[in-house]
Amino acid sequence: MTDLFDGFEIAGPAREPLAPGAVLLRGFAQPHATELLAAIEAIAAQAPFRRMITPGGHQMSVAMTNCGSVGWVTDRSGYRYDPVDPDSGQRWPAMPPLLRQLAEQAASEAGFAAFAPDACLINCYEPGAKMSLHQDRDERDVGAPIVSVSLGLPATFLFGGLKRSDKTQRYRLAHGDVVVWGGPARLAFHGVAPLADGEHARLGRRRINLTFRRAR
Ligand code: SIN
Ligand code: FE2
Repeated sequence: MTDLFDGFEIAGPAREPLAPGAVLLRGFAQPHATELLAAIEAIAAQAPFRRMITPGGHQMSVAMTNCGSVGWVTDRSGYRYDPVDPDSGQRWPAMPPLLRQLAEQAASEAGFAAFAPDACLINCYEPGAKMSLHQDRDERDVGAPIVSVSLGLPATFLFGGLKRSDKTQRYRLAHGDVVVWGGPARLAFHGVAPLADGEHARLGRRRINLTFRRAR
């Protein structure tokens, strides 16, 4: 895969199936990257990125914030969706319409009509940060898909099956790429390999990932 210049690359098909119910839409968010980054900056000004603590007492390498009517949080007591940012005691910033619309369009493109996300977890990776293999299963209704938008430095996304021990495939996710998984793939194990160092024209030494969920 050859980077030609920021945000444009020769990357094979625009639509790559990962598994039944899961598809990679290459460059889907690319036309909206500038507005997305401005929206993320405004959210982070209200609810700064922070490295949360897992129930096991480890500090995550990925820094997180949220927008939407609820946000995903973890602390010593467990994982949950909370309407309130525990750092500020205030509600999470609202989900900007642009973000919601992009997620709805990506879901629809992937075959999931009428996706109505109420939560968006925003992950910030610096070189070395990773996300271990996990399932997204804190949402009340797993009938709705997960929509994941990648910005900044490219990452290696691991996508497996419904069992932790299932073989994982590796996909390079670049600036503007969107992955949608739902239906038979909704509870697939997935993760992100340690971020390789690099310099992205828009985000410097960072990768930002948004995951849209229907949590409640
Ligand atoms: C996640 O599983 O919440 C994040 C996935 C990613 O960063 O690509
Ligand atoms: Fe996840």
